Amino acid sequence: MQLANTNWNYPTTIWFGNGRINEISQACQKLGINNPLFVTDEGLVKLDIVEKTINILKKNSLNFTVYSDVQGNPTEKNVVDGVAHYLKNKHDGVIAFGGGSAIDAAKTIAFMSGQTRSLWDFEDVGDNWSYADPAGIAPVIAIPTTAGTGSEVGRASVILDEKLHTKKIIFHPKMLPAIVISDPELTLGLPPHITAWTGVDAMVHAIEAYCAPGYHPMADGIAIEAIRIIAKYLPMAVKDGKNLEARGQMLVAASMGATAFQKGLGSVHSVAHQLGAIYNKQHGLLNAIILPYALKQNKVAIEDRMVHLSKVLGLEKEGTDAIIGYIIGLRKELNIPHTLEDIDINTDNSKEIGEMAYKDPSTPSNAKPVNAKDLEQLFRAAVTGDLNGL
Ligand SMILES: [Fe+2]
Repeated sequence: MQLANTNWNYPTTIWFGNGRINEISQACQKLGINNPLFVTDEGLVKLDIVEKTINILKKNSLNFTVYSDVQGNPTEKNVVDGVAHYLKNKHDGVIAFGGGSAIDAAKTIAFMSGQTRSLWDFEDVGDNWSYADPAGIAPVIAIPTTAGTGSEVGRASVILDEKLHTKKIIFHPKMLPAIVISDPELTLGLPPHITAWTGVDAMVHAIEAYCAPGYHPMADGIAIEAIRIIAKYLPMAVKDGKNLEARGQMLVAASMGATAFQKGLGSVHSVAHQLGAIYNKQHGLLNAIILPYALKQNKVAIEDRMVHLSKVLGLEKEGTDAIIGYIIGLRKELNIPHTLEDIDINTDNSKEIGEMAYKDPSTPSNAKPVNAKDLEQLFRAAVTGDLNGL
């Protein structure tokens, strides 16, 4: 089935559909951008989709330059260098093109382009964001090329503090991109393992948001539908990367996952953020491995919700254990390992990882209150594969 081209204004302006990348110059025009900085990452810049997009900009005689010094886990230096590049070339907006790393870096470059304070002053703690000058935030057009992070509809970025080996969240309501071009054709070349890892990241966003405490039926509704879509279409997208319907469904579901997690995330992300910073492993892969262990640890707080989710997914049995069984089966189908040990992470720093995870901004919205010891235990279980000890 061909998904129809559509424009949405929720949670921001989204131009969805195959071939919509051809409208990139119209997006610039709509936002009054005449000289965009095109931000992408060091891997993507060599690919056809970047060349094709740049040719569209050239054809429409737009002035622009490219900044592609963005690492897999973007760093403060990537942002500072990007801002210097932005100012030197007198840009007036940012095109964020790529996966979560490129989009997070690009959003942060746009945010920092007109600030006088330094980056870590805006870490998502308390009301730090209110010290930013909103007039100094450049407009962003976000163009996702993976279906996972959902950063294109998010108001925050994750940036690595290399000195402290920790990932920090930079937040401001105006970091939400003004226009998203959501074109499934851009995701056709994603290899199966990246499709799987990023896709499970989107599922974890939706599951953690759905399990986060608090009354937020809008977020819950979006989360449940995102999980249903991902459960149906992720295996298809991994098996057949050219399946445009599966690619389109996954792209939308990823944006839905990130929309839902305005409600909050949980301990899967708390631990994964630390491991990404220390071991430089892919974020979605880490989440995918940790998820069942976190569900087990949160079981007492999420059982009712897991019964409902089991019904939505049409599982034979219902409840947290049924969902854990389903997730383990899905991971097997997607060739994702069961333990962190399988990706060369050991229990060496477990106490420190527990303590750092406790301070992560995702921790307060975990389904049930957890302390550093609990998060250490969760990490150890995910290393060794001991689901029963939780
Ligand atoms: Fe994530």
